Amino acid sequence: MEHLLSARARGARSSVIRELLRLTEQPGVLSLAGGLPAPELFPTERVRAAFETVLGARALQYAATEGAVELRAIAARRFPACTVDEVLVTTGSQQALDLIARCLLDPGDAVVVESPSYLGALQAFSAAGGRCVGIPGDADGLRVDVLADHLAAGLRPKLAYVVTDFANPSGATLSTERRRALATLSDRYGFVIVEDDPYGELRWAGRRPAPLRDMGSQVVSLGSASKVLVPGLRVGWMAAPSWLMGPLVRTKQAADLHTSTLSQLLVAELLRDDAAQRRHLERLRAEYGTRAAALHAVLPAGLVAERPDGGMFLWAHGEGIDTTALLPRAVDVGVAFVPGSAFFPQPDAASGEWMRLSYATLTVEGLAEAARRLGAAMEATPAGVG
Ligand SMILES: Cc1ncc(COP(=O)(O)O)c(C=O)c1O
Repeated sequence: MEHLLSARARGARSSVIRELLRLTEQPGVLSLAGGLPAPELFPTERVRAAFETVLGARALQYAATEGAVELRAIAARRFPACTVDEVLVTTGSQQALDLIARCLLDPGDAVVVESPSYLGALQAFSAAGGRCVGIPGDADGLRVDVLADHLAAGLRPKLAYVVTDFANPSGATLSTERRRALATLSDRYGFVIVEDDPYGELRWAGRRPAPLRDMGSQVVSLGSASKVLVPGLRVGWMAAPSWLMGPLVRTKQAADLHTSTLSQLLVAELLRDDAAQRRHLERLRAEYGTRAAALHAVLPAGLVAERPDGGMFLWAHGEGIDTTALLPRAVDVGVAFVPGSAFFPQPDAASGEWMRLSYATLTVEGLAEAARRLGAAMEATPAGVG
């Protein structure tokens, strides 16, 4: 009966990578693959107390699509020069990406993404028929000079998507100069910038650059409770220019009416307590900083990665290594990672030499054992074979 499927659903086929990643869920496998926050650092007791506070008829009732006013107010304060009216609460920032794609993209429309980029964004843009145009990145994020060349040569994207701080998967932070240059290009050529920043608060060294929202007029800014509180409540928020707000709200209405009222009120209650949230973030930064340094220190010979100042990922390069071929052997010896080619809109042989390693989920001891197993799998896999 597959002929009944829409063209869109047929297009959303399972990828080789996703099939491979299923292997990583086997028992006994130490996973460096998922982008899962450390569960033992969840503020469970605070969530329980917040639940007691917010539980009542309002938390269990239908609510406005735009979101609970107290959560919108908290989100507005997190963005520069932002009013409550400009904020829409979303079911995780993944929903924000889907809504933006549905509101802006017609089949074939160009979307500028960094190459490599967040897989879930590539999926959302492609599902809406968008054509993801990969622009290379380096340690300072998207190569805005390369984008400028493409624009001068005639590329006309509807939007450009950047993970501004500690990008998934590359770990790069877009420099202030490049933010300014990107905002200037957006105003000159008339495209929307989507700044996605779930990791910016997880910084344990260096200074956080100013948000893009400060610099351009057509910036959509995304935020999420997933990495700074808990992902399971599925709460995110976005600030969008006024012309886009109506279409976004109507599209969300058709998708899910509104984000769970209970989840929204819980997140508002948790974020309202500035002092407790500051302490929680300090704990996350300290622990993730320790784990990042620990994994970096024991990376197997043949893998090279920058030591991160924040975020959840090491982006490691192995000269001559086919990381897609390596994954099944790694899983055989009990360790998993995400092969780099998953993150490239147009993968080539060079993209296959990368892998994303998350240090957030395992303890320091777990990371050491995972790295040992990874080294063993690499020794058992001659470079370039597969
Ligand atoms: C860059 C980026 N954006 C968005 C998301 C989606 O997060 P959520 O929907 O949980 O807010 C993720 C999740 O890992 C991510 O890494």
